[in-house]
Amino acid sequence: MGVDLGLPHFDASLEELGLLAETAGLQPVARLVCKRKAPDAALFIGSGKADEIKLLAQQHGASEVLFDQALSPAQQRNLERHLDMPVNDRTMLILQIFAQRARSHEGKLQVELARLQYLSTRLVRRWSHLERQAGGIGMRGGPGETQIELDRRMIGESIKRTKERLIKVKRQRHTQRRQRERRSAFTISLVGYTNAGKSTLFNTLVKARTYAADQLFATLDTTTRQLYLGEAGRSVSLSDTVGFIRDLPHGLVDAFEATLQEAVDADLLLHVVDASNPDYPEQIAQVQSVLQEIGAQNIPMVLVFNKMDAVEPERRPRVWRDMYELHGDLVPRVFVSARSGDGLPVLRQLLAERVTEDPEHPAPVASSSVTQLLAQFSVPY
Ligand code: GTP
Repeated sequence: MGVDLGLPHFDASLEELGLLAETAGLQPVARLVCKRKAPDAALFIGSGKADEIKLLAQQHGASEVLFDQALSPAQQRNLERHLDMPVNDRTMLILQIFAQRARSHEGKLQVELARLQYLSTRLVRRWSHLERQAGGIGMRGGPGETQIELDRRMIGESIKRTKERLIKVKRQRHTQRRQRERRSAFTISLVGYTNAGKSTLFNTLVKARTYAADQLFATLDTTTRQLYLGEAGRSVSLSDTVGFIRDLPHGLVDAFEATLQEAVDADLLLHVVDASNPDYPEQIAQVQSVLQEIGAQNIPMVLVFNKMDAVEPERRPRVWRDMYELHGDLVPRVFVSARSGDGLPVLRQLLAERVTEDPEHPAPVASSSVTQLLAQFSVPY
């Protein structure tokens, strides 16, 4: 269900919500959109529209309703009563996917923390009408402690425990990072909107097999490999990171600090873009805003326009490399297809240039003069 409130980024086709649902293991059976000036305080939508959803859900045998917009705890509860089935929103769906997909110990702990934090805010508000209700005698609570206080305290304790465990795991990671820094490798991080093709590009570049799938957030934990750049006569450290998405629940930005931290520490960011998606400018903007949020906005960047094989021939550029204007700055851009391998030699060459030009990582061999031949054309795209 999508509600057009006249805000930017309204996705009338609900395509991304559909992909998110599939990623979470659900099967979308029907889509409905409507327009409203403002959300209804009780139901988010009008009761007539809610009845329409109910009928549609019955016709399609749906077992759950998903909203593309964030619902307040009260709206969610009221809708569940009205529709007589579970109702979730985009935030909850993303949290669920992250919970299913985190693989590393740290990733799992961080998702758990994000989930608990999310739950604690909802618990407080969701049950606030029961606040004054006299509760039973809790295990550790004094007489008259309400169930809500107990629940809140249990969640609070779980949050504390999870945070403590995270601190330990983080300490280990910092040690590992320091070891990497001591090796003084030039580090490159792949960042980009979810499904842009980061893992596919990573695999093709390092010939490793990271999980690549037509699902959102296939990669949740950072994978790092050595990439040998023959063009520069040396290896660099290449990391694949979690995909970004618009309205990433705030707790999750913190939660994925581990994987995003790789981006903050990188010497160079490869911002991978799905150039075959008409929404790519919006996706670039979303990624840029997350980078800003995590303090990675000043790290040198190369834009990698991927999936060129899927772009209509008349929209394909005539050069492999040019400059792209991003917030008033000119950023180098390379056109590639991670799938077919087109453009990858140009990308490798550009990386080699960056590595050898970096004053903190002096090159063991001289840079190839071939780079001089690759003129910086600018084509409208
Ligand atoms: P997240 O893990 O969600 O962040 O995704 P990702 O950016 O790592 O994307 P991934 O590499 O998993 O690729 C997403 C989908 O795009 C997969 O189905 C890939 O096969 C497909 N894909 C990747 N690169 C290309 C390409 O160059 N051309 C085409 N046509 N498809 C591609």
